[in-house]
Amino acid sequence: MSDQSNIIIDVHMNNQDPTTVKNEIREGLLSTPKKIPTKYFYDDWGSTLFEQICELPEYYQTRTEHQLLKSVADEIVSQSGAEELVELGSGAATKTRVLLDAMARAKQLKFYVPFDVSEGIVRRVAQELVEEYEGLEVHGVVGDFLAHLEHIPDGGRRLVAILGGTVGNMGAEAGPAFLSSIYDEMDQGDFFLLGAQLITDIDRLEAAYNDSAGVTAAFNKNMLVVLKSVIGADFDQEAFEHVARFNQEKGRIEMHLRSVCDQVIPIPKLDLNLCLQEGEEILTEISMKFTRHQVEALLTRAGFSPVEWYTDPQELHGLALAKKR
Ligand code: SAH
Ligand code: AVI
Repeated sequence: MSDQSNIIIDVHMNNQDPTTVKNEIREGLLSTPKKIPTKYFYDDWGSTLFEQICELPEYYQTRTEHQLLKSVADEIVSQSGAEELVELGSGAATKTRVLLDAMARAKQLKFYVPFDVSEGIVRRVAQELVEEYEGLEVHGVVGDFLAHLEHIPDGGRRLVAILGGTVGNMGAEAGPAFLSSIYDEMDQGDFFLLGAQLITDIDRLEAAYNDSAGVTAAFNKNMLVVLKSVIGADFDQEAFEHVARFNQEKGRIEMHLRSVCDQVIPIPKLDLNLCLQEGEEILTEISMKFTRHQVEALLTRAGFSPVEWYTDPQELHGLALAKKR
């Protein structure tokens, strides 16, 4: 049985100024190339589709990180001494359980702070985890980790984690500032665990974002549905196709929605008629692939001291453990 007194959920997305939301979407749609912030993938259905992506044969990333975590979780927990796990972009927290198990084995597990933009999944995970881990307190934060980090509750000895390669979705421009803001929110002595997808061959990378079951395409197109609810834009899903390709120069997968015809989409809330030509693409996601050197440089630049580097035998995924000294 769950004990509701063990759960607190703070929601910050509802307090978002509608003008800020409109401005960020408008700015993206007016830029060249046109783009939409990645966080708009993740309503409840988008989060469910992402969970399905994690199970796909082509999407090697999740199972690789899961295996890697299993082999190093005890060491991470013992190095960090953490009694609280704060996870940014926690999603379904499937791999998180490996860390929570290790903390429980070390008799250190007290708090878990899932931080995600998707309210439904934070609530679901909080409920599941208090049922699975006796005595665990969950303090969920529903917010944008690019805007609401100051709402992370104060805690004891903390391990802050970003798993799955979510840091790669920030891109080279926003990534360093994001890590610096995390560093600023942490206390001296806290540890940071960063999962990063590593550079591998193009065929493997492109297949992971062009799965044969079409789940990634559905995930990409779901953004059109989310935008309808957020800004009332009446996109026709059939008028777009999913495109994902590796940009070798920038070392990143880029996902787009490509217009299959000339079209004009009126968006009165943005005071905008969005004109798209046949073949024109809207950038919906970038997913950077790193080298170990790049990950450690990113950490150092933010102020962290790298402590350990873990990778799988094929070097597809990296986990960097770092410390705020
Ligand atoms: N950590 C999980 C989920 C990764 S998917 C894993 O490794 O499998 C990325 C997660 O980040 C999603 O759950 C999404 O809702 C969340 N997310 C994306 N952009 C966000 C933002 N700006 N602020 C907070 N959460 C965000
Ligand atoms: C969440 N993030 C690390 C995933 C990735 O691989 O960049 C999101 C994703 N997009 C399509 N497939 C998976």
